[in-house]
Amino acid sequence: MAEKIIINDVGPRDGLQNQTVILEPQQRLALINALIDAGVKHIEVGSFVSPVAVPAMRGTDLVVAALPKGDYHFSALIPNLKGYELAKESGIDTVSIVIAASNSMNEQNIRMTNAQVLSFAKDVLGRGQADNFTTLACIATAWECPFEGLIPEKTVIDLCGELLAAGAPEVVLADTIGAASPAQVKSLISKLVAEFGAQRLSCHFHDTRGMGVANVFAAVECGIRKFDSSIGGLGGCPFAPGASGNVATEDVVLMLNQMGFETGIDLAKLVLAADLVAEQTGANATANSARWIKRQVEKGLL
Ligand code: COA
Ligand code: ZN
Repeated sequence: MAEKIIINDVGPRDGLQNQTVILEPQQRLALINALIDAGVKHIEVGSFVSPVAVPAMRGTDLVVAALPKGDYHFSALIPNLKGYELAKESGIDTVSIVIAASNSMNEQNIRMTNAQVLSFAKDVLGRGQADNFTTLACIATAWECPFEGLIPEKTVIDLCGELLAAGAPEVVLADTIGAASPAQVKSLISKLVAEFGAQRLSCHFHDTRGMGVANVFAAVECGIRKFDSSIGGLGGCPFAPGASGNVATEDVVLMLNQMGFETGIDLAKLVLAADLVAEQTGANATANSARWIKRQVEKGLL
């Protein structure tokens, strides 16, 4: 049997938060349902953040209320305790929190210092255990920060250790601005896997310089079996200058299929979800593989 790799599509959050066209909750739901149709089971469906800071995420409570029931893993990003309370009220059972490895990024993104964000993270992890809530802890700018430059590996290894010790069921290593190379990914991830094991680690790459898929490959080789990616390669953080889209789900799934891994995702249906979000937002889908996949579908090969 093929080994499984989990794909968590963050398009409905990371993909949409930075678009000039703001989608209605119903349109966001249509995208989520298109991803589900394609076999995606892990989806970041939105965020509970200030609607002034990120207008595109307004109405995430309405999105959550209308999510289909079933064997799915939906999550929403929260920046603070207010977000935690809103997430809890919405009925979702998994949140992701973002702890940048650099002080400047924390201040720009959520207006907290490193010390404040770590104490917030520990607080949420503790509350989550009491409230039966799953908290995924994402380390942003794990390789490079747009304000502070390269991040020392030890900073990330120590932070990851603290988050795991505080009870994080999973730590996501994020290259928020897409500045890492496969060699840097291999270097950091192999150390993290040696120290903490691969089961509780996941990776999140942006494709700013076309290295997203190569970085996924490097992390797979280190033993990582869960990845964030975004349908159509949409994405980008409004608070991290230079960040462009996430690595496209289509590109990642195609590569993993060819490597013999099982993702449970149907590529022919996945490109339909990418077409939908391109139509909804007017943004150019940036998946390198989209045209090739469509040709294979036309030839009846997929
Ligand atoms: N959800 C909804 N509204 C929120 C909120 C949340 N999680 N947190 C704060 N707010 C509201 C407050 O109620 C307040 O509203 P008011 O002006 O009507 O009273 C307003 O936002 C400002 O609150 P304050 O605590 O002063 O926050 P701030 O202005 O320092 O902004 C954040 C901090 C974190 C709330 C804001 O920057 C934010 O939401 N950022 C989003 C970060 C993000 O999504 N990044 C991309 C993903 S990595
Ligand atoms: Zn991201």
